[in-house]
Amino acid sequence: MMKIVGCKSFSNRKSSDCLILPFFQQEKKAVPAFSQKKLEGFFSKPLTLGDFTAKTAEILLFYENGQKEERVLLLGLGKASEFTQEVARTTAAAACLALRNKKIKSASYLIPELALIPKKDFLRGITEGLFLSNYAFDKFKVEDQRSSLLSVVSLIGAEPKDLPFLAHDQIVAEGVHMSRDLVNDNADNITPQKLAEVAKSLEKLSSKIKVRILHKKDLQKEKMGLLLAVGQGASVDPLLIIVEYRASSPSDHTVLVGKGLTYDTGGLSLKPSTSMDTMKSDMAGAAAVLGTMRVLALLDLPLCVTGVIPATENAIGSRSYKPGDVHRSYLGKTVEVMNTDAEGRLVLADALAYSVKKLKPSRIIDIATLTGAVSIALGEEIAGLFSNEESLVKKIEEASGRTGELLWRLPLHGDYSEQLKSDIADLKNIGNGKGGSILGALFLKEFVEKIPWAHIDFGSSAWLAKPKGYYTTHATGVGVRLFVEFLESISQKK
Ligand code: BES
Ligand code: MG
Ligand code: ZN
Repeated sequence: MMKIVGCKSFSNRKSSDCLILPFFQQEKKAVPAFSQKKLEGFFSKPLTLGDFTAKTAEILLFYENGQKEERVLLLGLGKASEFTQEVARTTAAAACLALRNKKIKSASYLIPELALIPKKDFLRGITEGLFLSNYAFDKFKVEDQRSSLLSVVSLIGAEPKDLPFLAHDQIVAEGVHMSRDLVNDNADNITPQKLAEVAKSLEKLSSKIKVRILHKKDLQKEKMGLLLAVGQGASVDPLLIIVEYRASSPSDHTVLVGKGLTYDTGGLSLKPSTSMDTMKSDMAGAAAVLGTMRVLALLDLPLCVTGVIPATENAIGSRSYKPGDVHRSYLGKTVEVMNTDAEGRLVLADALAYSVKKLKPSRIIDIATLTGAVSIALGEEIAGLFSNEESLVKKIEEASGRTGELLWRLPLHGDYSEQLKSDIADLKNIGNGKGGSILGALFLKEFVEKIPWAHIDFGSSAWLAKPKGYYTTHATGVGVRLFVEFLESISQKK
C-alpha cells in the first residue's frame, strides 16, 4: 500500500517526481484551486493557450526545471460548485493513474484551499481516491509488463491533525484490495476450500475472530439440501464458512451473508459462453464479506458481526443437480429447481435460514451477484437494494451516500411471489422471466422470516469490464467500504 503523508507548507515539501496542482473550472477556464502566487509561472502557458480547462479529471502533465519536482501535473476538479467528496476521489484517481502510466513513484499534491466542502471531506476523498486507484492485478503478466504503483504521496497543506482518518482508511482500502484480489484470481485457485483458508487466516489478525467451517458431512447432518444440491456437480466440495467477530455484547448482532459461487457455469441450464466468462466473479459477495471481516479485525471496532459464506461451484457434469428435481432446504421448504442457473438464491436460502435459526441476528444483510437482470434495470454502476425494514434501508443508504457505492432500492412486490409457486413443491426457483432481480429477492425473503433484512444484488457493480475512476480493471471491491461505513454508523449509535 502506498504511503500518504501530510506536509505543512509548500516551502517545506520534500522533493518528489511530480507536483500535482488542482484547478477548478470557471466560465470554461481553469483557475487555480490554491493560492500560491509564486507558482503561476508553472502554468500560465497552458491556461492562456486554452490547452487545459480543468474539466473534471482532466490531466495535463508537463516538464519543468522545478527545484523539487521535474514534472508538473495540472489536475481538473470541474466546477467548484459541483465539487464533492466523490469528485475528490475520482480526480485523485485520475492523477494517480496518469502518474502510474509514466511509472512515477512519488508526488506532492497541493491540496485545494478554495473548495466549498469541509477540508476534512476533500482530504479524505483525495486519500481514498489514491488508495483505491493504486491497485493492479497483474500476477499473470511477465515482470516488465506489470504496472507501476505509486509509493508515496505528500499532501501539501495538510497537517497530521487534518488526517486523523489516514490509518483507518488505509486498512479499509486494504480490505477492498483483498476483495478485488479474490475476485480477479482464477476460479480454479479460489475454490471454496481456498475461501475457507482465507477466512481462517483472519484468526491470526485478531483474537476476536473465530472461524468455523461446515464441511460436506456437516452440511449433510444439518440438512442443507439446497447448498448441497448446487455443489454436487463440482469436483470440489461445498462449504459453509462462518467468521465470527466478537468485540461487543452479542445483544446487537449483525450477520453479513455473501454469495460464494466460486464459478457459475449455470449448471445443466448452461450459460452461453459469452455470459460465462466473468463468472469467476460470482463469489464477489463472499469477497466483500471477507474483506469487511478483515477490516473489522484490524480496526478493532466495538461490534458483534458474523460473516456467513455459502461457498461452492455451480459445475456441469454427470453429477450436476437437475432441472425439474425437487430439493429440501435447511428451513424445510422444498424447492423445484426449474433453472440450475438460478443457484445463488438456493445457496443463500440455506445460509440465511441457518443464520436466522442459529445466530440470533439483530439484522441480516446479504450481498450477492444474484442476477444479471439488475444491470439491465440499473446499469453496471448501481446495485439493487431490497429490504423488509425501513430503518435499515435508511442506514444503508446513508452509508452508500458517504462511500459513493451506489444503490437503488427496488420493491419486494409481494404479488409477484405467486410466480414462485410450484405444482409439486413449496417453491420453485424462478419466475416468468420478468423483473428477474425482484423475483430473486422475493425468493430469499421466504427464508428470512421476520428478521430485519436487506439484500444487495450487485450482479451489476461487482465487476466492471473497463476501469473507471478509482475502480480498476474487473473486480471493484464494492461492498467492503459500504459495510464498514454502515457498521461504524451503528456502533456509534450504541
Ligand atoms: N451469477 C448469476 C448472475 C449474474 C449474471 C451476475 C451476470 C453478474 C453478471 C446468477 O447465478 C444467474 O445466473 N442468474 C440468472 C437467474 C435466472 C436464471 C433466473 C440470471 O441472472 O440470468
Ligand atoms: Mg447462475
Ligand atoms: Zn450465480
